[in-house]
Amino acid sequence: MATGITKKNWKEDTQIITDELFHNGFDYEINYKGKTPSKELTNLEPTQDYNRIFGNNSDNLLFNGDNLDVLKHLIHRTDLKGKIKLVYIDPPYGTNSVFHSRSQKSSYKDDLVGSHFIEYIRRRLILLRELLSEDGSIYVHLDNNMAFEIKVIMDEVFGAKNFKGFISRKKCSNKNYTKNTFGNISDYILFYSKTENYVWNRATISWTEEKMKKEYPCIDEETGRRYKKVPIHAPGIRNGETGKPWRGKMPPEGKHWQYLPSKLDAFDAKGEIYWSSTGNPRRKVFFNKDKGVAVQDIWTDVQDSVNQNIKITGYPTEKNPNLIERIIEASSNENDYVLDCFAGSGTTLDVAKQLNRKWIGVDNSSEAIRHIFKRFFNGLKEMGNFVDKNISKNGVDQMKLFEPKTEYNSDSSKSRDFDFFADSRFEEEAHGIYEEFREE
Ligand SMILES: C[S@@+](CC[C@H](N)C(=O)[O-])C[C@H]1O[C@@H](n2cnc3c(N)ncnc32)[C@H](O)[C@@H]1O
Repeated sequence: MATGITKKNWKEDTQIITDELFHNGFDYEINYKGKTPSKELTNLEPTQDYNRIFGNNSDNLLFNGDNLDVLKHLIHRTDLKGKIKLVYIDPPYGTNSVFHSRSQKSSYKDDLVGSHFIEYIRRRLILLRELLSEDGSIYVHLDNNMAFEIKVIMDEVFGAKNFKGFISRKKCSNKNYTKNTFGNISDYILFYSKTENYVWNRATISWTEEKMKKEYPCIDEETGRRYKKVPIHAPGIRNGETGKPWRGKMPPEGKHWQYLPSKLDAFDAKGEIYWSSTGNPRRKVFFNKDKGVAVQDIWTDVQDSVNQNIKITGYPTEKNPNLIERIIEASSNENDYVLDCFAGSGTTLDVAKQLNRKWIGVDNSSEAIRHIFKRFFNGLKEMGNFVDKNISKNGVDQMKLFEPKTEYNSDSSKSRDFDFFADSRFEEEAHGIYEEFREE
């Protein structure tokens, strides 16, 4: 693997572009017909064009309507503007397709393409930026249709310097039928922060025995601890102490010692230097189970529903909760607001709730809202059970977001059993949706 020479080791004749110039001096943007000036978007008057809100108007909110209208409303709410710690969106991908649920109900269309798609996403990103807190982050999930165009748009909206990662995810199992090309099993998540100072909880996964043995192949004779050997030199010539011999040995040509001789002596005294049979020193880095394995930007362990035992709602393009969990844990803390304005079956809302975050969800598809309710009240079903309409109610997970204290009594319009619905205008309607699912 080749890495560039660090800036401080550049020779004097190297042309140096400052970080400021690198990020701001060579701006470019995509232009297309219909691109609205961003000021016009943030100055939009709030509307009430979304259809319904379910929620108690403070912590957790679910809107049914076009998210552009809902976002216009939210940026005028002083209790929410600049307060959202994390946005995760999984919008249509510009695939020109129509999606049905597992029970064959029409769920949503993905029919905006080209510049129409770009402008549709851009308008929402501009409003989402207003909602994010200064230490907030946004993750945008796309596939190879539009990820690269939207990357340029996100550089424009959030600033290229706030680009934090381009995550490639293995979305499904390998394909045998590959249409004369490589099997398409990846999608992508673009990660941006609002500023340089953003919430980041180091994402790790636990060590497996196999991985530990591979990464830390050596065993220290004295202590029995596992370790790996790493070089103690780095590229670049130095004239100071790190460029001089240590224990009679010069650093390799064109390199310098990474540490001062006094520090290297200290490592050696603690038994942390490995000496090869030819007298070459390396540093011993010992295995520390507690640190976990840092998550990299290729995710192969969070595919969507891969077998009949996985539990889902049955909404098309429903994401794996473990994927969302990784994002929420890395980029927010308990009691923070998490927003998903392409909520679908409500995976983000469900995981946010389980991780003690406040959540705001939006979707304009009534089928999506039905699936969110289904998830909230009935939990998830094993994928294989979608063919069986007579599944026992006890056969599903009981992870409930709305926590009804007792069963809803449709005879009593005054029933307040569902705490969630502080706004009584929607309580009855929500119960209607719930009843529909009970009958399915
Ligand atoms: C890819 S799905 C999201 C799936 C979701 N991540 C899940 O785990 O279930 C995209 C969702 O965006 C919704 N959607 C598309 N355009 C929208 C808009 N303008 N306003 C609100 N929702 C929209 C669709 O109805 C669909 O449910």
